[in-house]
Amino acid sequence: MIEILTPAELGRAKVSGALVADILHTLKGRSAVGTNLLDIDRWAQAMILDAGAESCYVDYAPSFGRGPFGHYICTGVNDAVLHGLPRDYTLADGDLLTLDLAVSKDGVAADAAISFIVGESKPAESVAMIDATERALRAGIAAAGPGARIGDISYAIGSVLTEAGYPVNTEFGGHGIGSTMHQDPHVPNNGRPGRGYKLRPGLLLALEPWVMADTAQLVTDADGWTLRSATGCRTAHSEHTIAITDDGAEILTLPRGN
Ligand code: MF3
Ligand code: CO
Repeated sequence: MIEILTPAELGRAKVSGALVADILHTLKGRSAVGTNLLDIDRWAQAMILDAGAESCYVDYAPSFGRGPFGHYICTGVNDAVLHGLPRDYTLADGDLLTLDLAVSKDGVAADAAISFIVGESKPAESVAMIDATERALRAGIAAAGPGARIGDISYAIGSVLTEAGYPVNTEFGGHGIGSTMHQDPHVPNNGRPGRGYKLRPGLLLALEPWVMADTAQLVTDADGWTLRSATGCRTAHSEHTIAITDDGAEILTLPRGN
């Protein structure tokens, strides 16, 4: 089912979006050499509950994971790209960390992800890969608006990723979002322009380009959740929740004050 939000629901979506963005921004600032992924999960839990919001993850038990997720944020290091189950791991200098967070407040969900390098060393290939997912996300957002189609977004995202030299996996991609985190329509990270569902004001989409440096193949970790690159190469992921407006698209998951 595809949900179209009322203006009142859209107002709540903005609150949820800002909360997700603020939590991610705070957690990025705290993710240093020596930080444990389980600390990040605990900090996320505290901030979600303090804000009177609900985790979209903790009880989530989709077909692509093993049982309820049981944690509050996805943490992926280096080759771990999607659904990273927080584990007892201490961050090292130069690690590429992906944080992916979705919460629901007053009945409306928002979802965002960021990738960044921890510490002082900035491996050039990792920086370029993160940059490609951020540029693809911006291109996808620029292609979104009333009358545009899902395929226009997919094509815009896929073109940036492909031109940057990365293979694109279309098994997991963006999605509709609203009263629940994962809804129709699916937004593949590559596709053909002019195809698919026609966007209309009030639709909320989570767009999420992600890449692996040298493969399109994923493997599932023994934890039953974490998806890693099949070759062990590094990975990156950038996600925003956007609202289709009367004249374009508005990003809901920007940190306040930025
Ligand atoms: N937020 C993720 C997405 O971008 C989904 C995470 S599902 C979880 O769609 F169960 F792993 F948390
Ligand atoms: Co998402």
